[in-house]
Amino acid sequence: MAITIRQVGPCFAGEVDGIDLRKPLTSSEAAQIHAGMDTYAVLVFRDQKLSDEEHLAFTRSLGDIEHAIGTSLRAASEYRLPTTFADVSNLDKSETPFARDDRRRLFGIGNRLWHSDSSFKSTPAKYSLLRAVSIPSKGGNTQFADMRAAYDALDDETKAEVEGMVCEHSQLYSRQLIGFTDFTDEERERFRPVLQCMVRTHPASGRKSLYLSSHAGGIVGWPMPEARAFLRDLIEHATQREFVYTHKWRVNDLVMWDNRQTMHRARPFPANEPRDMRRTTLAGDGPTVAQAA
Ligand code: OGA
Ligand code: MN
Repeated sequence: MAITIRQVGPCFAGEVDGIDLRKPLTSSEAAQIHAGMDTYAVLVFRDQKLSDEEHLAFTRSLGDIEHAIGTSLRAASEYRLPTTFADVSNLDKSETPFARDDRRRLFGIGNRLWHSDSSFKSTPAKYSLLRAVSIPSKGGNTQFADMRAAYDALDDETKAEVEGMVCEHSQLYSRQLIGFTDFTDEERERFRPVLQCMVRTHPASGRKSLYLSSHAGGIVGWPMPEARAFLRDLIEHATQREFVYTHKWRVNDLVMWDNRQTMHRARPFPANEPRDMRRTTLAGDGPTVAQAA
């Protein structure tokens, strides 16, 4: 069966047909998927009834895994999934939804802000592959925004202003935006800011994109309030409806996005209902600007 991709978003995002992700990828299929990512930046695979092992094997056939260690407030002893997965669920180890005021849940609410995965790591993520194992009765959509289209739509003056710009990214900044500030000293140290360039150029397509994320909380050389206001304006610009695709989840969907070219955010859902989402992540090639590891 041949792979086909049908565009489902306004300027990006494609739904892929003609592939069974449980089967080993041929090199031609892997090449078509990478090419699809270069073009669409988000790919949707429906009705893929994968085990965790099959999800992981599919991910590995596209590149190197980024492990999820120490990126949430779950202690290692509280991990529900192996570190090859980011646990994006609202569930504890016994598969029970977190209490409404559980700080692990409150930290996870940061995913409702527009972001790019692992922009708080010096080598940030390439692709993320999120699979729906169980979904709530309502809400819980995921939205994606095309940062290439957002860059293209900037006026020339702003393009010149962002060229060469370097930002500080940290989960401390994104959580501060939603009033979550009760970090321990250990967490503050673990979440200390890293540097990222603002404008990225895609290695295959050559398209420029805005590397924005709610984790960005400072601009090198700028006074803080001016930087924060500027970053807010850019995110507002970049997430206008014409650049956004909303994914309505079905169980057994797998959605893959390129964190170098898009932002995404979760939408709210009833706090007492399980939402079991599991994510594998492909590591990026390296830092976007020179800095200590
Ligand atoms: C993620 C993420 C959004 C969602 O998996 O990185 O931000 O809707 N998920 O769960
Ligand atoms: Mn995310």
